[in-house]
Amino acid sequence: MKIAILLIVAYILGSIPNGIWIGKVFFNTDIRKHGSGNIGTTNTFRVLGKFPGALVMVLDILKGTLATLLPILFNINHVSPIIFGICAVIGHTFSVFDHFHGGKAVATSAGMLLALHPVLFVCAFVFELTFTYLTSMVSLASMISFPLITILIFINKDIPLGIIGVILSVFIIVRHLGNIKRILNGEENLMPFGLLYKRTH
Ligand code: G3P
Repeated sequence: MKIAILLIVAYILGSIPNGIWIGKVFFNTDIRKHGSGNIGTTNTFRVLGKFPGALVMVLDILKGTLATLLPILFNINHVSPIIFGICAVIGHTFSVFDHFHGGKAVATSAGMLLALHPVLFVCAFVFELTFTYLTSMVSLASMISFPLITILIFINKDIPLGIIGVILSVFIIVRHLGNIKRILNGEENLMPFGLLYKRTH
C-alpha cells in the first residue's frame, strides 16, 4: 500500500507542469500556445526568457530527483528507485494536470540521473551544453546526449540502468519526432547563440 501511494506521488510530482504554471502566474502566458508549444525549459526560455527558462529547468530536474529519492526517504529497500523515477518521467510526459499531455522527458529524466548517478548527471549536462553550443538546437543536443550517457552507463557496467537508458533514449527521440521533421526540413528553431546560429545570422 505504502509503495503504491509513493508511486502515485512520484507520478503526481512528475505531472507538475512547471512551464505552464510559471507562464500563467508570472507572465499571463500559456507557453503551449507559443514557440514550439512544448512546456519544457527550451520553449520557456524561447518564449519567456532566460530566468524563467532556468527556473523551469531546475524545477523539472528536481521533481525527477525527488521522485527517484522517495523510496530512500521512506525506507523502502525492496523496490528500485528507478521505478519511481520512471513514474515521474511518465507524469511529466502524460501529465494529469495537462489532459495527459506534457513535455519531452529530457529534464525530468536528467533529474532521475542526478539522484542515481550524480557524476553522470554532470556529464549529461556538459554534453547537453556542448551540443547545444555546436548545433544551436537543444532538441538535437538532447537526442545526442542521452544515447551518449547510456553508453557511459554501460561502460560503467551498470546493466539495469543502461537498459533504462536505452528505453529513455528511444522514448526521448520519439517525443522529438516533430523536432526531427523540422531539423530535416531545415526549419528547427535555433537558440539565439551557438555556432550554427552565428553562421546563419
Ligand atoms: O527539452 C525539450 C527540447 O529538447 C526541445 O524543446 O521547445 O525546441 O521542442 P523544443
